[in-house]
Amino acid sequence: MKLLVTGGAGFIGSAVVRLAVSRGHEVVNLDALTYAACLDNVAEAAQSSLYAFEQADIRDRDALERIFAKHAPDAVMHLAAESHVDRSIDGPGDFIETNITGTYNMLEAARKYWAGAGRPEGFRFHHISTDEVFGSLPADPSVQFTEDTPYDPRSPYSASKASSDHLVRAWHETYGLPVVLTNCSNNYGPYHFPEKLIPVIILNALAGRPLPIYGDGSNIRDWLYVEDHADALLLVVEKGAVGRSYNIGGENERTNLELVRTLCGILDAKRPKAQGSYTDQITFVTDRPGHDARYAIDPSRIRAELGWRPSVTVEEGLERTVQWYLDNEAWWRALQDRQGVGLRLGVGS
Ligand SMILES: NC(=O)c1ccc[n+]([C@@H]2O[C@H](COP(=O)([O-])OP(=O)(O)OC[C@H]3O[C@@H](n4cnc5c(N)ncnc54)[C@H](O)[C@@H]3O)[C@@H](O)[C@H]2O)c1
Repeated sequence: MKLLVTGGAGFIGSAVVRLAVSRGHEVVNLDALTYAACLDNVAEAAQSSLYAFEQADIRDRDALERIFAKHAPDAVMHLAAESHVDRSIDGPGDFIETNITGTYNMLEAARKYWAGAGRPEGFRFHHISTDEVFGSLPADPSVQFTEDTPYDPRSPYSASKASSDHLVRAWHETYGLPVVLTNCSNNYGPYHFPEKLIPVIILNALAGRPLPIYGDGSNIRDWLYVEDHADALLLVVEKGAVGRSYNIGGENERTNLELVRTLCGILDAKRPKAQGSYTDQITFVTDRPGHDARYAIDPSRIRAELGWRPSVTVEEGLERTVQWYLDNEAWWRALQDRQGVGLRLGVGS
């Protein structure tokens, strides 16, 4: 398959690019290279003749049309987005332009290309979204997000992603564009940008700095290992039913405090401090406005229809992640040195 992957220099997109190339797919990585991008994430895949890169902004429709015409992809996997909740609270404008208008441009460029190619049946526009569009859940473990949960986004980020989901569904209903959608829970793993929660905790712990936790740390997230997510995404783009959406979760609900304590335990074992535990550095900070209490995915549909389940527990995934950060200091130091990075707590997506 020839895949046009947008946002392939970001955290999840790069995992998709690496996995797709390793499985013999051709990949065109379309990325504007914003502050969140890092082409080192795909350095090995970029050596392959299966890989091509196009630096382009999804707000630039002409550029998108040129790229579709030049590469003639079999499918699009649309991940490019502004993705950081805290940044969306500081400045929502980029989220509206990239996540909403950018997705509209992608849909129109895809539709033009698909119509021009005679509406090939096998073409797919796979839109990658978040469980944050569903809002916040109560603590009751029997209540989870299903694909039918009404949308109730509460941050500028999740509202912009919800808007883009609606556009994608409308392009299917109105124009017949063969779309599939996925909504996933919080990802973590190698190459996670250093201002998101898990890398912030690992890197602050190693630097002897406070480990910031919003509120009382009781917010619950369902943690999905990024390489498991990439595997699920490739399955959906190949086998997902047209017009259908699939929730993808890690089946690993943890409070933020539990998560941070687990990370501290792994670090205590791998890189013991001279005295005490990394948990001594935990600090509670003022909560984020509108901080959703709990996200949890009901994974029944993707399990029943496509036979997919996550391969690792959160403890296994965190162990691998901590080891990756210990082994790849040059990668994260270079990103920490970028202007304006690391000033946020990053407890969101
Ligand atoms: N990280 C998570 O836990 C999570 C959870 C659910 C859903 N998602 C969704 O998955 C997708 C990828 O998330 P991520 O965490 O990898 O994000 P990321 O911020 O790490 O990467 C986003 C990538 O998109 C690129 N990009 C941003 N604006 C662009 C534009 N205007 N034109 C072209 N490229 C642009 C960036 O350069 C970057 O490489 C997003 O759509 C996000 O909403 C992420």
